[in-house]
Amino acid sequence: MDKFVNINIEDKNVATMPILKSTIGENVIDMRTLGKQGVWSYDPGFLSTASCNSKITYIDGDKGQLLYRGYPIEQLAEYSDYLEGAYLLLNGELPTLEQKNNLVLYINDHVLLHEQIINIFNGFNRNAHPMSILSSLVGALSSYHPEGFSFNNTEIRTSVILNLIAKMPTLTAMAYRFNQGLSFVYPNSKLSYAENFLYMMFSVENKPFTVNPIIAKAFDRILLLHADHEQNASTSAVRVAGSSGTHPYAAICAGITTLWGPAHGGANEAVLKMLNEIGSEDNVVKYVEGVKDKKYRLMGFGHRVYKNFDPRANIMRNTCHDVLDVLGKNNDNLFKIAMKLESVALSDKYFIEHKLYPNVDFYSGIILKAIGIPESMFTVIFALARTVGWLSHWQEMITDPELKISRPRQLYTGYTSRDYLKIEQR
Ligand code: CMC
Repeated sequence: MDKFVNINIEDKNVATMPILKSTIGENVIDMRTLGKQGVWSYDPGFLSTASCNSKITYIDGDKGQLLYRGYPIEQLAEYSDYLEGAYLLLNGELPTLEQKNNLVLYINDHVLLHEQIINIFNGFNRNAHPMSILSSLVGALSSYHPEGFSFNNTEIRTSVILNLIAKMPTLTAMAYRFNQGLSFVYPNSKLSYAENFLYMMFSVENKPFTVNPIIAKAFDRILLLHADHEQNASTSAVRVAGSSGTHPYAAICAGITTLWGPAHGGANEAVLKMLNEIGSEDNVVKYVEGVKDKKYRLMGFGHRVYKNFDPRANIMRNTCHDVLDVLGKNNDNLFKIAMKLESVALSDKYFIEHKLYPNVDFYSGIILKAIGIPESMFTVIFALARTVGWLSHWQEMITDPELKISRPRQLYTGYTSRDYLKIEQR
């Protein structure tokens, strides 16, 4: 028998709401009819509210489980790569070999930007934050793809989605090189997605460019692990923006600007800042005491959803060791501080009782730094990775027959109606 929840106000039944069943995880109370009865629910920050139904990503915070379309992230990280993950997130199934090859070909054919885009850089401060550059460029890209508004046409929608995935590494690397005062490097479509990005970031004119396969794999893994994470703030921002029927790239801009905030995409940058502040392995124990005294938080530890462990962190930890080994940076001061911090915190009662474990950002920041990527670019790389998640959610929403423009209600706590006073009477 279907289950219902009854809402009674002063013993009067105002609504009977069915419970919707999930395939795994929490079931939800269907409150859609509540407003019609003149009652609204109050839930700032959506702590108890499902804003949509979705088939893309599932997280079980207590188990430390992350599934993309049902596939455990550990298996994808071991056997798959970012573009295969992108296909999976967008289409719901893993690609066949032919589908994967076609995707790679399509991406490689669309890595180049319209030459006119370069002129946009003339308007930026040389030291502009690369997130401000990236959000502006993605917004500007919509003007080169007016067909994006015809997203109800499946073919057009797919091409607009893949076009952005193809161009994001180019845009991201340009933002970096602009900051560094370096000339832009045109993409090399013979390289893999991750290699091409590293090539556009770091290649030097007239010098052969090679990238160690372990570094390329580590970077690809960072992209895959950050590709989607359910209804987080930036994904929700993309859904809200997209629900108005705006251009998909404009909706992605909403995601980029939301991700920029330190409570969301800025954590791995904060980890590096913290490690620098600690300065030496000898200061770790004292620093941890300050955390326990609530003077500050341990960056890269804890998670709103994962209360057991962050499955992405376990994968990143191994990758971090591989990268530092290959770069000969195992004795790097920051890394030594990080490893000491990890072992002190993991064996400390405070962290055990508070269920605080290293999260993905604890290790990804160390890897990015070791590869030579400056801290200001960390959130930009997160945006590069998350673009496919944002696009998958945007697509799912825009094709959902239940789509409604996002229009939350409010609990009004301001003045009741009052009369206007002329300025001389105030
Ligand atoms: N260091 C020390 N204490 C902490 C930390 C931390 N990093 N995180 C939570 N706590 C304590 C907090 O002081 C509180 O203690 P008490 O109950 O004694 O007052 C308790 O744990 C619960 O804290 P909360 O703020 O209610 O927990 P939350 O689930 O809302 O916070 C969080 C989640 C990620 C904001 C938080 O753990 C934090 O600030 N971590 C550091 C920043 C960070 O690494 N963020 C990256 C998250 S992963 C990004 C992603 O998934 O994309």
